[in-house]
Amino acid sequence: MQIVHYPHPALRWKSTPITKIDQELRDIVREMFELMYAAEGIGLAANQVGLPYRLFILNLTADPNEKDQEHVFINPEILKKKGSQEAEEGCLSLPKLYHNVRRAEEITVEAFDLDGTGFELTVDELGSRAIQHESDHLDGVLFIDRLSDAGQREVAPIVADFESLFRQNQASGVIPPDEAIKAQLQQLVLKQK
Ligand code: CO
Repeated sequence: MQIVHYPHPALRWKSTPITKIDQELRDIVREMFELMYAAEGIGLAANQVGLPYRLFILNLTADPNEKDQEHVFINPEILKKKGSQEAEEGCLSLPKLYHNVRRAEEITVEAFDLDGTGFELTVDELGSRAIQHESDHLDGVLFIDRLSDAGQREVAPIVADFESLFRQNQASGVIPPDEAIKAQLQQLVLKQK
């Protein structure tokens, strides 16, 4: 497992609900936390490790010792959004790219945890921002899609660099072609059903 970078097709995939919480899923989640901590992130969606499932993890402290701050969101739904806030965001799939993004200030989200227990949370500030960012991933939406036209123009050169590096890695065979990646994602979707 590794974190994939833009424009990997998994990042544009509308993910599939999880139907079974088993040891395999718990292992996936553990591995995702390890990768997130290694990359010094506070959130990671399954798409970002090439898995087309509706799942993301959070630890707003980014500290692996703060295990009680680890949260797993399975099949999350944002039920309510209120207000508006703007702050800087980044993404482990677009390393070192940061830009202000406008988001709802407060959200109410429902999801299941790794024990299969449903929960509902109302959060604001960083938690709200992180959950909106990660939920977007599950629909194949990236924070760069949420920028104003001016913001999009500002980040365009960096986004183009990510694109050309990715295509180079495909040309040299380090990364499979898009069609092969999509076929593999489709396989994983079928396996889930
Ligand atoms: Co992200």
